[in-house]
Amino acid sequence: MTGRDTTGGGAGSRLVGREADVGLLRAFVDRALSTGGALVLTGEAGVGKTALLESASQYATETGATVLTAAGAQFEADLSYAGLNQLLYPLLDDIDRLAATHRRALTVALGLSGGSPPGHLALSTAVLDLLHQAAGERGLLIMVDDLPWFDRASSVTLGFIAHRLAASRIAFLAALRSGEEGFFDRTGIDEYEVDPLDNAASAALLTDRFPTLAAPVRQRLVAEAQGNPLALLELPASLTGPQRTAQTRLPALLPLSRRLQNMFAARIAGLPAPTRRLLLAAVLDGTGDLDVLRSIPVGHLSTNLAAAERAQLVRLDRDEDRLLFRHPLTRSAVVQLSTSEERRETHRWLAEHYQDQPDRRAWHLLDAAVTPDPEVASILEGVADATLQRGDAVGAVTAMLHAVEVSPRGRERSRRTAEAAYLAANITGDLRRVTQLLDEIRRTDPGRANSMAAAVAASSLLLNGDGDVDTAHRLLVSALEMQSDIDLAEEKNLVEALHTLLLVCLFGGRPELYAPFDAVLSELGSRTPELLWVTRRTVADPARTAREALDRLDAMLPGLESEANPSRIVRLGIACAYVDRLASCRAALWRVVEGGRAGGAVASAIEALFLLGNDGFFTGEWDRTLAAIEEGLKLCDDHGYRVLTWPGVFLRGLIHAARGRTDVASSQADEMTGWATPRGVALVQCYAAHVRALAAFGEGDVEAAYQYTAAVSPAGVLASHNPHAMWLVLDLTEAAARTNRHREAAAHAAAARQAGIAAISPRLALLVAAAAAVAAPAGRDVELFEEALSVPGTQRWPFDLARVHLIYGERLRRTKATTEGRRHLTQALETFQRLGAEPWVERASAELRATGLAIPTGVAPQLAVLTPQQQQIAMLAAQGMTNKQIGARLALSPRTVATHLYQLFPKLGVTSRAGLRDALTEQSAKEIGEPPRKDE
Ligand SMILES: Nc1ncnc2c1ncn2[C@@H]1O[C@H](COP(=O)(O)OP(=O)(O)OP(=O)(O)O)[C@@H](O)[C@H]1O
Ligand SMILES: [Mg+2]
Repeated sequence: MTGRDTTGGGAGSRLVGREADVGLLRAFVDRALSTGGALVLTGEAGVGKTALLESASQYATETGATVLTAAGAQFEADLSYAGLNQLLYPLLDDIDRLAATHRRALTVALGLSGGSPPGHLALSTAVLDLLHQAAGERGLLIMVDDLPWFDRASSVTLGFIAHRLAASRIAFLAALRSGEEGFFDRTGIDEYEVDPLDNAASAALLTDRFPTLAAPVRQRLVAEAQGNPLALLELPASLTGPQRTAQTRLPALLPLSRRLQNMFAARIAGLPAPTRRLLLAAVLDGTGDLDVLRSIPVGHLSTNLAAAERAQLVRLDRDEDRLLFRHPLTRSAVVQLSTSEERRETHRWLAEHYQDQPDRRAWHLLDAAVTPDPEVASILEGVADATLQRGDAVGAVTAMLHAVEVSPRGRERSRRTAEAAYLAANITGDLRRVTQLLDEIRRTDPGRANSMAAAVAASSLLLNGDGDVDTAHRLLVSALEMQSDIDLAEEKNLVEALHTLLLVCLFGGRPELYAPFDAVLSELGSRTPELLWVTRRTVADPARTAREALDRLDAMLPGLESEANPSRIVRLGIACAYVDRLASCRAALWRVVEGGRAGGAVASAIEALFLLGNDGFFTGEWDRTLAAIEEGLKLCDDHGYRVLTWPGVFLRGLIHAARGRTDVASSQADEMTGWATPRGVALVQCYAAHVRALAAFGEGDVEAAYQYTAAVSPAGVLASHNPHAMWLVLDLTEAAARTNRHREAAAHAAAARQAGIAAISPRLALLVAAAAAVAAPAGRDVELFEEALSVPGTQRWPFDLARVHLIYGERLRRTKATTEGRRHLTQALETFQRLGAEPWVERASAELRATGLAIPTGVAPQLAVLTPQQQQIAMLAAQGMTNKQIGARLALSPRTVATHLYQLFPKLGVTSRAGLRDALTEQSAKEIGEPPRKDE
């Protein structure tokens, strides 16, 4: 990749007609070296981008800055992080000075050490750190030529970096041909289009370099070259003697770059055969390393290269032992002139040379293969696995697809196709790709269309796409049934199939769906993989089976720290969700999110975001949860995932319900039932009922709350295979008790006790004990509430805990235990206020007022002139929240919030947020600060 094109040193000083461009670049370099900045040069082939980059680089060096350069190479194998390797090569020694986590991320990505694959964010910040370090006081110029030919993984990292140079001493300057886009994210980065030279400059260039040209020929060349310096320099060389002196017609007009390439081709064709083979090897290798060329068996290197040097096609940098091509078009021409047999043979030689670099070797073997080659296929499959390990999921799919290409028809080929489909469906989120792959399997190998991996891919597609649970279930079950004995070669796919089937069953929610799944598990017996065994117990029917799996689940959690595989992290997260252990998964789940942000494992990232949201809801981090959910839903939208959205919609609904935004919550619930009912997706129907129940509590409509919770699980039983039954234990019992269904309340509390779910987590212990207290007759309840509140570790679940304090406080007040009651109510109130759970704030405040305590009505008198929504906005703004935060909390756009504020300021007679705060705090200080009355 370092065989970078160059015209030789000092290009800057010899540029004709580029004063303005050079001036602009110098100004950019000056500015960016002191305050950071990025610029991309675009323009047609040969217009002079590389020449301008070099002038900038020379200038930066003169100012004392460090310069790092790299260039993409068109024919180089698709090696992940090759570009980054090239760019950072001069800094490798400095990696030791980075913080340990950054050092680890960087060395794994660059293949210098093994370890768990770095997340995108970790890697990018590590690189940025290294660059900052290199920039020091004098600044650093990063210069990347031919950006679109950089490998994908490096491009993504560079894109991240180029967007984060503000206030650094780092200048980023890159070039690309107009119309050739790669993976580098250019949005928001300044672009400078390099225009062709004007006629005067073109003529000056010709006169300078070809003083003997006849004047009419010069004019003709100026017209034909259209201001393209490469054409101006090369056209004369290609003219025959008579053409030069204007005696013969010039060749017909071809597109310029094509023509230039042909000119180079003509020159290459004149070289001796061994020289051409060496050039071909240099192009296909792409490293420019002369050592590689020495291993090519075509005779003496220097002798053979001399001819190419004389023809001015290449230059040898003897100090660095490198071969440099004068122009990229030369490379295209070399390849264009070679036969496919020559290319294959060259790739074989290169593969031979790279015995100790498995990735490079694999790519060369791939290109050398004529017929399907099982050995090459299996090497490439290995590359796919290793690429996934380095954290580049998309690269892994590409490698796997290449493995498919060279696999002989049959079993292995279908398996790899299916695996690529699976990776694409579940990790990269490329659903269109999956459809194509599955079609290919059906076409080429109909017998295998039902194979395990194909079934997994297809059912992932169904599940991720439209949510056809029953078809997905049928597909997987029939693939499992076709499997007469459990085939070890297929075991990896079998496990995938079972994990997918488990999710299909969970969404479907009907107990009978699990039967085929359980049958396979019992056949597998002790060979059942640990995670699968555990997940079956903690997710499918946790009320009955979770307890027996907790020790084994807990034993797996420490391993998350070094877990690299995003889908495994997400699966462990799923196993933890219903048993309240997500806190242990946070760091790993964030790694998955980072990977997805970098365009890696998207589907896993979405699931990770919602698992984090799930954790955040129960642990009371609601604003952060809403942000995570928005991000996840946006990804679903971008990638066409449907089923994956629902956990996000559910959590968003819960938060809005808890915050009294009943309108938003019910529209979320409507969306869920509208989709889930016709499809029979019971889990999503439960989600909707759960949201509606919480909203109903907020509205004080306890009867509705009872109906919704009882629809999830009838009073007196924890519905089988429905994890939400556990979550709603207290809700159902409270709703029953408050609607005078005392028998139902008692039955439900007893069922929860009997099920033993209290042993699962402190949160469930709290809910079960509180349910018993709520259901207990007056007199018995105090002891049970005390038991609930003495469960250790429940502070981690503030909303649940506050609800228990609230109910207890209400009971105490009714039995005239006012002081005690106030204590619990105040605790509840504080939590609800912090969470922004408005209806609960109201309920707790009302109770406190009923104890005789003066609590603001929630609305300061001066706020009464506002609409309820404006009141909320005013209070939040007065607490110091930004429009964006207020918007997130109230499900409004920041712009709408701004409009409301603008309208409400005059109503309150204030002109600023600060004024608002003063106006409101004066009022609340008067009310809240009042000591309790001594009336008992
Ligand atoms: N203003 C100039 N004065 C003199 N020579 C120039 C000028 N601009 C470019 N050249 C020469 O023209 C040739 C083509 O320029 P260069 O390689 O920079 O083009 P490029 O835009 O990078 O093309 P590509 O997109 O193919 O990489 C080089 O030999 C370069 O030295
Ligand atoms: Mg160039």
